[in-house]
Amino acid sequence: MNATPDVIIQEVCPRDGLQIEPVIVSTERKVALIDRLSELGFPRIEAGSFVSPRAVPALADGDAVFRSIVRREGVIFVALIPNLRGAERALAAGADELNFVMSASVTHNRVNMGMDHEGSLSALAEATAATGGRIHVNATLATAFGCPFEGQQDEGKVLRLIEAYLRLGAQSITLADTTGMANPKLVRRRVKSALGLVPRDGLTLHFHNTRGLGLVNVMAGFEAGALRFDASLGGLGGCPFAPGASGNVCTEDLVNLCEEVGLNTGIDLEGLIALSRELPSIVGHPVPGQVAKAGRSCDLHPAPPTPP
Ligand code: COA
Ligand code: ZN
Repeated sequence: MNATPDVIIQEVCPRDGLQIEPVIVSTERKVALIDRLSELGFPRIEAGSFVSPRAVPALADGDAVFRSIVRREGVIFVALIPNLRGAERALAAGADELNFVMSASVTHNRVNMGMDHEGSLSALAEATAATGGRIHVNATLATAFGCPFEGQQDEGKVLRLIEAYLRLGAQSITLADTTGMANPKLVRRRVKSALGLVPRDGLTLHFHNTRGLGLVNVMAGFEAGALRFDASLGGLGGCPFAPGASGNVCTEDLVNLCEEVGLNTGIDLEGLIALSRELPSIVGHPVPGQVAKAGRSCDLHPAPPTPP
């Protein structure tokens, strides 16, 4: 478990997973979930967001969550922000890293953030200035592989927006497939182009399994040179402002895939499966992940008796 990971997985369940849930999980349960996750070997956990509480009531307690979680050496606790106000709240609550979000699709950005690109980009500039260089700023480009309102997103536009992010002080970027519209061919192309602008450890891929392509997109991204991936415990997640949104790539399914093909993640798969099996009691419904239901492929069953 201590070898350098071949794949860096950022756990996003406390943010992406819980933001779409109709049930508001209590601060105490969120903190307990994050503390359990941080014992499992994740190098990075997106622990909450600092957005308008009217937009996402489920995560209105980001300040209390960040102040209450146990800080574990080697774990970076990331906060999603949409604007300067979010950056200031995240800094005050002690976030280790900011994750600014804007959508490649202007239509989705207006629906999700109430802003056009100019508004969001000036918010990024204000947020990076507010950090005074004290903490890392990542910038996510949502709908980078397709938008539920606009459809396909032009590659040139995606690259220009990445360049704008870097110019405005973002130190790394995430390409997000908000509603699972990516496919392996598109992923390979996007990763190759993005790696012309950012180094390998400055690019994260964030896939949703909306159309069942989440894990194949991860593998296509990895084979094209990407190293860092977001995933959510149990496969929970989705954007509340994207019709038809559904869960992220499931973390334990991804860790299992990595183990099966000999890629080290540094994450304790058995512990992860045990934690995922507790999720239905936290969110009040079954979750989409598969490995927590089936067990690992090395978890064998006794054969039923056969006739003599
Ligand atoms: N944290 C807390 N409150 C915030 C805030 C933040 N980061 N940013 C704005 N607000 C508050 C304002 O003070 C205002 O409150 P009031 O009505 O009580 O005065 C209210 O939110 C609306 O703010 P306004 O500046 O008028 O913007 P808006 O209504 O157009 O909303 C965003 C813009 C960006 C704040 C909002 O769309 C948002 O939070 N979006 C995030 C959506 C999200 O998290 N999606 C999933 C993750 S990608
Ligand atoms: Zn997402």
